[in-house]
Amino acid sequence: MSKFSYTAEEKISAEDFVQLLRWSGLSERRPVEDMDCIQGMIDHADLMVTAWRGDDLVGVARSVTDFNYCCYVSDLAVDLDFQHLGVGRELLRETKRSVGEGCSLILLSAPDAAEYYPRVGFTQHQGAFRLGSEQEIL
Ligand SMILES: CC(C)(COP(=O)(O)OP(=O)(O)OC[C@H]1O[C@@H](n2cnc3c(N)ncnc32)[C@H](O)[C@@H]1OP(=O)(O)O)[C@@H](O)C(=O)NCCC(=O)NCCS
Repeated sequence: MSKFSYTAEEKISAEDFVQLLRWSGLSERRPVEDMDCIQGMIDHADLMVTAWRGDDLVGVARSVTDFNYCCYVSDLAVDLDFQHLGVGRELLRETKRSVGEGCSLILLSAPDAAEYYPRVGFTQHQGAFRLGSEQEIL
């Protein structure tokens, strides 16, 4: 039996989410100093799959989705102590299982993970665009 368990049902606190972001290294790229924003990210996520080792939170995949057409996987993070053990792959599998059959997963990779996503099956999309919060529609 795997030493990790996965669920889409468990709620986690903003503090636990931030701690995991820090332990994974993703905190450098997420607003961990702004707890209102972090709380909003949790409250308005449509799907949060979490990975557990016993009672310890070791991974999360946080997504915004309509469950039918598209699922934006915003944050994938695994505790550094448990990376390269298949936890990230299983979080993505559980995310895919949790949405409808016709639903695509979409994400923007952090630079360090750019070689990870093709390895677990994602196709790089040349047509991806982003409008940052500091940018205006022209
Ligand atoms: C990227 C991350 C989520 C991967 O999770 P993980 O549980 O360590 O990955 P897995 O064990 O599922 O890895 C699956 C495969 O990808 C490989 N892999 C893991 N991290 C990789 C990386 N950063 N680059 C390239 N390959 C990677 C693994 O060696 C494994 O290869 P295998 O199939 O030959 O065994 C995790 O390393 C992490 O949290 N990193 C820091 C935060 C981050 O960058 N998140 C992504 C934000 S977009």
